[in-house]
Amino acid sequence: MCRVEETSGKCDYRKQWEMKIKMFGEGKVEKLKNSMVSRSRMKLWMIRALTTILIWTCFAHLMTLGEIFGPKLLKGWPSCFTHSTSELPLVAPELSSIPPKLILPPKRLYKNNGYLMVSCNGGLNQMRAAICDMVAIARYLNVTLIVPELDKTSFWNDPSEFKDIFDVDHFITSLRDEVRILKELPPRVQHRVDQGMFLSMQPISWSDISYYAHQILPLVQKHKVVQLNKTDARLANNNLPPEIQKLRCRVNFNALKFTSQIEELGRRVVKILREKGPFLVLHLRYEMDMLAFSGCTHGCNRDEEEELTRMRYAYPWWKEKVINSEMKRKEGLCPLTPEETALVLRALGIDRNVQIYIAAGEIYGGERRMAPVAEAFPNLVRKETLLVRSDLKFFQNHSSQMAALDYLVSLESDIFVPTYDGNMAKVVEGHRR
Ligand SMILES: *[C@@H]1O[C@H](CO)[C@@H](O)[C@H](O)[C@H]1NC(C)=O
Ligand SMILES: *[C@@H]1O[C@H](CO)[C@@H](O)[C@H](O)[C@H]1NC(C)=O
Ligand SMILES: *[C@@H]1O[C@H](CO)[C@@H](O)[C@H](O)[C@H]1NC(C)=O
Repeated sequence: MCRVEETSGKCDYRKQWEMKIKMFGEGKVEKLKNSMVSRSRMKLWMIRALTTILIWTCFAHLMTLGEIFGPKLLKGWPSCFTHSTSELPLVAPELSSIPPKLILPPKRLYKNNGYLMVSCNGGLNQMRAAICDMVAIARYLNVTLIVPELDKTSFWNDPSEFKDIFDVDHFITSLRDEVRILKELPPRVQHRVDQGMFLSMQPISWSDISYYAHQILPLVQKHKVVQLNKTDARLANNNLPPEIQKLRCRVNFNALKFTSQIEELGRRVVKILREKGPFLVLHLRYEMDMLAFSGCTHGCNRDEEEELTRMRYAYPWWKEKVINSEMKRKEGLCPLTPEETALVLRALGIDRNVQIYIAAGEIYGGERRMAPVAEAFPNLVRKETLLVRSDLKFFQNHSSQMAALDYLVSLESDIFVPTYDGNMAKVVEGHRR
């Protein structure tokens, strides 16, 4: 696909095109010269001139193509990037404005063992990580995956479907050399499901792939259709075969593309930020849901503490109810508070005047809690301050689409700082690497 330069560690498509074109061009000219030897000099000159024009035209076209597809290919083929250090790239390439790749991989043919339906649970990035797992599982079990259903009942209450957030056709076609994915069950199979002839279950969390091969596959073969109705952290992170890990990465990096509407808005935000110089994205996970389910009430007043605790008890899927906030904190399981975040950024030597984009929902405690950050770094921005109201109109009450926007801006940031080791931190860091 691409030869990696030894010195820079990057693919140089332009150089390769140039070389190919040179070789091609010189060969042609040589042949033409030989066959024209007996003709008049005038004719020879004309043909030479025409050939040169032709070659240059081809060359110019190919250069344009190279420019169009170069960055896209670099984005699409992570193996082309070999960073010399394990640090995140400081300057990320700009969001590309290119339609999906035109060349589709050939379909993988395999004997279908059944159908796998999945209902994801949690916020956008938790579901994103889960989708990567589910594709890998479906591939490993040789089943047909139905486009995942997204959570509509979680804390975030977002009614968005998969297709409202991700480019569903790209998802299906870009993975077709690995696994068959359908938008819905074939009618005959749907009929079975309508009659209740399928199995719905929660897989055991943090299982390795052999659990799916030995426990889940026989169930799929028996029932034809299995629905996994919980998807967070169902697949272990360590000791998986490299091909499973690679496929997970490929889904996160390449197959999960946001809809063009979200991408377009993301590009706009990045453009506005870039016009004013470099920017840092701060994933300030000091949000109500985070504090409620983790019990991290450090720095909250009495009323806030009560409110957060009440909330934790009210949501059945936050299973841990009695929490010692101090212990939690000492174990390092709490997100940084805004005050701590300001200290950390200053300790890291972040320029006081740099633009800081807050990638988060509402910060708990609002301006009062944000004051130390705003004092240390006056140039704080958010999507709501960069865009006009009407831009965000369609996104209102769709927290997953808002989160998608933050994700895109995070990918393009010069520096990305998460304040909690959660799903967003993991998938954004993985994507950037
Ligand atoms: C899946 O299909 C491949 C052939 O494409 C085969 O080698 C493998 O054993 C199959 N695995 C399962 C679990 O059916
Ligand atoms: C998932 O399926 C199991 C088994 O049928 C059921 O007990 C559980 O309530 C379901 N969970 C959800 C979130 O639908
Ligand atoms: C968003 O939801 C809130 C309450 O849940 C509602 O009051 C508001 O009208 C909704 N806004 C839009 C634009 O749908």
